[in-house]
Amino acid sequence: MGGLNLLRLTVVLCSVTLSASAWSVNNFLLTGPKAYLTYTTSVALGAQNGIEECKFQFAWERWNCPENALQLSAHRLRSATRETSFLHAISSAGVMYTITKNCSMGDFENCGCDESKKGKTGGHGWIWGGCSDNVEFGERISKLFVDSLEKGRDARALMNLHNNRAGRLAVRATRQRTCKCHGISGSCSIQTCWLQLADFRELGDYLKTKYDRALKIEIDKQWLKAGNSAEGHWAPTKAFLPSAEAELVFLEDSPDYCTRNSSLGILGTGGRECVQGSRHTLQRGQGSCGRLCTECGLQVEETMAEAVSSCNCKFHWCCTVKCEKCRHVVNRYNCVHPRRA
Ligand SMILES: *[C@@H]1O[C@H](CO)[C@@H](O)[C@H](O)[C@H]1NC(C)=O
Ligand SMILES: *[C@@H]1O[C@H](CO)[C@@H](O)[C@H](O)[C@H]1NC(C)=O
Repeated sequence: MGGLNLLRLTVVLCSVTLSASAWSVNNFLLTGPKAYLTYTTSVALGAQNGIEECKFQFAWERWNCPENALQLSAHRLRSATRETSFLHAISSAGVMYTITKNCSMGDFENCGCDESKKGKTGGHGWIWGGCSDNVEFGERISKLFVDSLEKGRDARALMNLHNNRAGRLAVRATRQRTCKCHGISGSCSIQTCWLQLADFRELGDYLKTKYDRALKIEIDKQWLKAGNSAEGHWAPTKAFLPSAEAELVFLEDSPDYCTRNSSLGILGTGGRECVQGSRHTLQRGQGSCGRLCTECGLQVEETMAEAVSSCNCKFHWCCTVKCEKCRHVVNRYNCVHPRRA
C-alpha cells in the first residue's frame, strides 16, 4: 500500500500549475466555489483563527509565524519546510473547526448536530445524546476551500494537501466525549454523551507536537526548483506511508531563521524580545534568549522598564476594594547585534 496516499491525494488536485501557494485569507474567498458563498465569512474567520494560534504557538521560536508567511504570492516564497507544513495544517484545521462549530450553533440552514447515533447505546451506562459536533460537514467545507488553493501537481502541492488533511484529522482526533447525568435525583444511573471539539488551543498544542516530529520526505531536489512543477515528473524515494496520514510532512530543511533575508521573506531574530531561562519561573518562552539571540550570534540586551500594578489593596465595609498603584522595575531582554570593537 506504499504510495497509496500520494495517489489518493492527486485525485483532488485541480488543473494548471502552482503559481503560488497563496496563503492570504482573501484567497479562500476568491477560490471558493461560487455555490458556497454562504460559508466564505466563516471560512475566512476559521483561517484567521488558525493563523492566530500559529502565532501563539511560535511566539518564542525563531520562526514566529510572521504575516509575510501567509502572503506568499508577492515573493516566490514557495517553501516546503516543516513550518509550511504547520501553517497548512493549522489553517485547514481552523476552517474545519469554525464551520463545525457554526453547524452546532445552528448558524447554517443545511447542517446541524450529528445525531446519527442518538439514542443508541454507546457503552456501559451511557447512550448517545445531546449535540455531537458534525465534523463531516466542517471537513467537507474545509477540504473544498483550502485544498482548492493547490493548483499544481507537483510534490509541493501534494505535501500541502497531505498537511491540510493532517490538520483536519487532528480536529477529529482531539474530540472529547462529554456526558450529562440522568436518573432519579441525579443519581447518574444513566448518562447521555456526545462528542465535542476540544478547545482550539488544545488543537494548537496537538499540532505543535506533530510539527516537532514532522517527517521529511526525500525527493529529488530539482523538482523543487521554480519551473519544475510539471506533473508526473517527481519521484519520491519514500512514499507517504498510510500510517503517516495524520503526521505532518515536509520536503525541505528549514533555514536557521537567524539572519534577515528579505528575498526569502525571513525577518531574522535581531530586535526580538526573549525570556531568560530560570529554574524558578516556569513560563512560556522560557530560555528563549539562548535560542533567539546567543545561538544566532546576537547578544542579549537587558533593559529596565517601569511597570505599574495594583497593590496594598484594602477592603472597605461594604463593599469596595481600594488599591494603590505601585511602580516597580521589570527587566526586559532583547536580541541585539554585537557592537564592533
Ligand atoms: C460562525 O462562528 C463564528 C464564531 O465562531 C461567528 O463569528 C460567525 O458569525 C459564524 N458564522 C455564521 C454564518 O453565523
Ligand atoms: C538570501 O538567500 C538567498 C537564497 O538562499 C541567497 O542567495 C542570498 O545570498 C541571501 N541573502 C542574504 C543577504 O543573506
